Amino acid sequence: MTYEEIYGRSIEHSDEFWLEQAKAISWFTRPKAKCTSNEYGSVNWFLDGELNMSYLALDYHVENGRAEQPALIYDSPVTKTKKVFTYKKLCEEVATFAGALKKLGVQKGDTVVIYMPLIPEGLIAMYACARLGAIHSVVFGGFAPHELQLRIEDAKPKVVITSTCGIEINRVIEYKPLVDKSIEKSSHKPSNVIVHVRSEMPTFQLVKGRDITWNEAISNVEAAEPVCVNSTHPLYILYTSGTTGKPKGVVRRTGDHAVMLKYTMTYIYNTDPGEVFWAGSDIGWVVGHSYIVYAPLIQGCTTVMYEGKPIKTPDAGGFWRVISEHKVSNFFTAPTAFRAIKKEDPEGLLLKKYDMTSLRTIFVAGERLDPPTYEWLAHLVNVPIVDNWWQTELGSPALANPMGIFPKKIKAGSAGVPVPGYLFEIKDDSGKTLQPDQKGNLTIKLPLPPGCFPTLWNDTERYKKSYMDAYPGYYLTGDEGFIDTEGYIYVMGRIDDVINVAGHRLSTGEMEEILATHDAIAECAVVGIKDELKGEVPVGFIVLKDFATISQIDIERELVSLIRNEVGALACFKQAIIVKRLPKTRSGKILRRTIRKLSEETFVEIPPTIDDPAIIDELRDAMQSNNRGVAQLVERCVRDAEVAGSNPVTPTLKEYSEMK
Ligand code: COA
Ligand code: AMP
Repeated sequence: MTYEEIYGRSIEHSDEFWLEQAKAISWFTRPKAKCTSNEYGSVNWFLDGELNMSYLALDYHVENGRAEQPALIYDSPVTKTKKVFTYKKLCEEVATFAGALKKLGVQKGDTVVIYMPLIPEGLIAMYACARLGAIHSVVFGGFAPHELQLRIEDAKPKVVITSTCGIEINRVIEYKPLVDKSIEKSSHKPSNVIVHVRSEMPTFQLVKGRDITWNEAISNVEAAEPVCVNSTHPLYILYTSGTTGKPKGVVRRTGDHAVMLKYTMTYIYNTDPGEVFWAGSDIGWVVGHSYIVYAPLIQGCTTVMYEGKPIKTPDAGGFWRVISEHKVSNFFTAPTAFRAIKKEDPEGLLLKKYDMTSLRTIFVAGERLDPPTYEWLAHLVNVPIVDNWWQTELGSPALANPMGIFPKKIKAGSAGVPVPGYLFEIKDDSGKTLQPDQKGNLTIKLPLPPGCFPTLWNDTERYKKSYMDAYPGYYLTGDEGFIDTEGYIYVMGRIDDVINVAGHRLSTGEMEEILATHDAIAECAVVGIKDELKGEVPVGFIVLKDFATISQIDIERELVSLIRNEVGALACFKQAIIVKRLPKTRSGKILRRTIRKLSEETFVEIPPTIDDPAIIDELRDAMQSNNRGVAQLVERCVRDAEVAGSNPVTPTLKEYSEMK
């Protein structure tokens, strides 16, 4: 069947189509009934099905001839460690750790927060939760205590699992004190904190009666059996940035997610059981959840966990080494990683050192694959470079090139064609569906296919308001783009206060709320401006209170450290510009888009709704007098990144071991 035939069936007969796909995974009770939608468009997929994610991805393969096949390869240049787990070994470790959680009272429906670096124990902890029917919520290790606190307060975990530290290239980032601080400030207190002790940080402050080490937790426990859960039972909550300071708890259910992951491994990522699949991401992001942790193992593949960076670990050839050494068939990462490699090794000389014959395809997602990066990469590696677009909310690709069905030609700048199950429409602000090549809001017609979020944790009202209310019968993606005459979709960027910094989704609204807590600030706007390396970086435009006498340099320094402490270094907030006032509409809404445009273009169309057009020139002057053209900003970010690389506040591994 062609892509068009398959796609047509997925839209016209979606229940039958997905019930058929559901046969590809192992259920305790196979679903048979048609699916039902609720009043706001989310679907109870496979309502009569029962399964367990940990059984499906581990025990099932052990029982079906894959016991000795590598399930997980851990490759950590930062600790100089490599480790292989067979399916049997991984299954045993998961069952044991699930036994440890059970002993601490964790049961089906309880929540568990995981705050760990990219190490096998993170994946083991996730599967252990799934084995018990507990709902995990992984928090990216780069987030500051305030972010972790918000998530702990919302998810109310019974247990928090952490490591003593993470390692950023050669710097030790102490995680345990961050966890302590978050719990101290949180109104919710977990009963226990399980601490995985890394040899790079062997000692830590133990809170009596609450903290227990990973090794203590697993000693003398009985391995836990997989618990049968309904298809609609939540597998996890993953918090993502919205437009306000409160992150959104995206809920992912078990059965439909498993079916969609299996489907995409076969038909989108074109990876067969037994092959090696590597997603160069982190378990803290949706890409890590779906394509490091769950999908490759559901498919019976070997997954790779790489605790390193594309550059400096030890050089810009790290990715090529891993692909060659572990015979990776398909590799998936964010375009920003390739931009980082391109900057260090523009000729691709390091690639030539390695045998890349195992590699069939490179998939990229997380941000727009800009045509220059595409051209550079496509020229360098002789395999298709396949963009795919999706979001934390959706759990797997919605736009892609279906490599396992019927590969289409690749168009640079387009994220591809709709994945079966997704019907896209471009709409203008009034709700009118636009014609091919016309740019507008990217929407998806309901019902959403399997794997998409059915709600937000504890906040169905926000789910409806943020995604479903704008265009009844459609899901609002928050992105803008257009569809060309051949049905390819081009995603151009966000239409809301969300920005994408080095493939990390962040909220400018949240940063504004944090900046506004500074005593000297009357009001502020944070906008994402273009950055050659990271895609976008946030810049603050601030209006000082009348009495404030603080200098530009001092306020900037204080605000940079405020965001670093409250959101984390990953926000890359390095610049705040004092302005006399902010451009607003006559009804008082800040014109953030106009500010962004002004930082990127010399000529800016003045919005008709602006209350005072003179402010445009004022702003332009402020930017110029701060010497902040785009070129200078980029230069400055690069310089700051270099300075941060030798950041004195976080010791190197060597300094750290000498200190202790
Ligand atoms: N723990 C602690 N700190 C972290 C961290 C973590 N897990 N991840 C990043 N940081 C810190 C970095 O050390 C850096 O700190 P610094 O300012 O003190 O130097 C800061 O956050 C900015 O990090 P980042 O923007 O990630 O830059 P980088 O140079 O460390 O890495 C990339 C660049 C391209 C490798 C990285 O951004 C990346 O992998 N991005 C892809 C993200 C992704 O997978 N997205 C999902 C879609 S595929
Ligand atoms: P996240 O939820 O972190 O995966 O971020 C989702 C957002 O990242 C989307 O709404 C887009 O703005 C952006 N994004 C992800 N993948 C792509 C892509 N392939 N092309 C363009 N933007 C993308």
